[in-house]
Amino acid sequence: MSVLVTGGAGYIGSHVARLLGTDAIIVDDFSAGIETRVRGLVCEQLDIASADAQHRLEALMRKHSVTAVVHLAARKKVGESVEQPEWYYQQNIGGMANLLAAMRSAGVMNFVFSSSAATYGMPDVESVSEDLDCRPINPYGETKLIGEWMSRDAAKAWGLRHVNLRYFNVAGAGWPELADSAVANLIPIVFAALKAGEKPKVFGADYPTPDGSCIRDYVHVLDLAKAHVAALEYLRSDTRPHSTFNVGSGSGSSVFEVIDVIREVTGQNFEVDVLPGRAGDPPRLCAQVSRIEKTLGWRTEATLTDIVRSAWQAIS
Ligand SMILES: NC(=O)c1ccc[n+]([C@@H]2O[C@H](COP(=O)([O-])OP(=O)(O)OC[C@H]3O[C@@H](n4cnc5c(N)ncnc54)[C@H](O)[C@@H]3O)[C@@H](O)[C@H]2O)c1
Repeated sequence: MSVLVTGGAGYIGSHVARLLGTDAIIVDDFSAGIETRVRGLVCEQLDIASADAQHRLEALMRKHSVTAVVHLAARKKVGESVEQPEWYYQQNIGGMANLLAAMRSAGVMNFVFSSSAATYGMPDVESVSEDLDCRPINPYGETKLIGEWMSRDAAKAWGLRHVNLRYFNVAGAGWPELADSAVANLIPIVFAALKAGEKPKVFGADYPTPDGSCIRDYVHVLDLAKAHVAALEYLRSDTRPHSTFNVGSGSGSSVFEVIDVIREVTGQNFEVDVLPGRAGDPPRLCAQVSRIEKTLGWRTEATLTDIVRSAWQAIS
């Protein structure tokens, strides 16, 4: 078995690649990927949205007898997607179109797609099920929803076997050298502030939640990587009742609860600066996980403390 992992030098992709070992063939343009994360693996530097990408991807699939693709390569900054929507569509949708066309030509029929909880938008429910109407509120989320439609339509047209994994808030590190190097999510943002000797900023304390801060569903990146392995196994079975799965813990933690865990793990009793809430942040975004638990036999193992501790150890 040989699995092509796009975005394999990225934070999540490198964890997936590490679990697949030498079965993984990495494609990455290294715009955000780090070469040392995938040392020892077959690696091709390639922008999947470039003009010659389809042919190069097809050749790579044939050369390595690829049987499945895990597609993580994408631009993922929400604010940037609002400012440069056409570039997000070119990269995320154009790149995926090249990839699917290459798979079709090379006869590669198995596909796992990195989707996102951003497809749901601002749902007004305790926890979201996969059947909820998706109403993304920014171009990033839209590219993820369109990506799901693209794989669904390829399934109808030429029999692609596919799984969409809608990740919730990914954090932690399975191995210190694979840690998240971007300072874009709550835990890395707080760590960066602490390292700089500054007070971490909290956006919004007057949301309609018990402590006023936003509630999110955190999943350890290694647990998430294991969900990809489970999805690849699922694609081998003849009965596949579902193609879209939430990947989360099934329970929510507020920003202030995460801050408390960070205080406990780091041993630092720091204060935070509370700023106004940001437009477009849903007060609560938590996954229903019964579908993935029952169908893929996957569930999270790591607690929020495990997540924070692994991320802290990776940068200490
Ligand atoms: N991190 C999260 O919390 C989160 C949540 C939901 C969904 N996702 C999705 O998971 C995937 C991986 O995210 P990540 O957090 O590991 O991000 P990341 O930026 O670390 O990884 C993305 C990788 O893709 C590569 N890449 C980007 N565009 C490319 C292109 N056109 N051609 C080739 N390579 C390209 C980058 O160099 C990088 O190595 C993305 O699709 C993202 O949208 C992430």
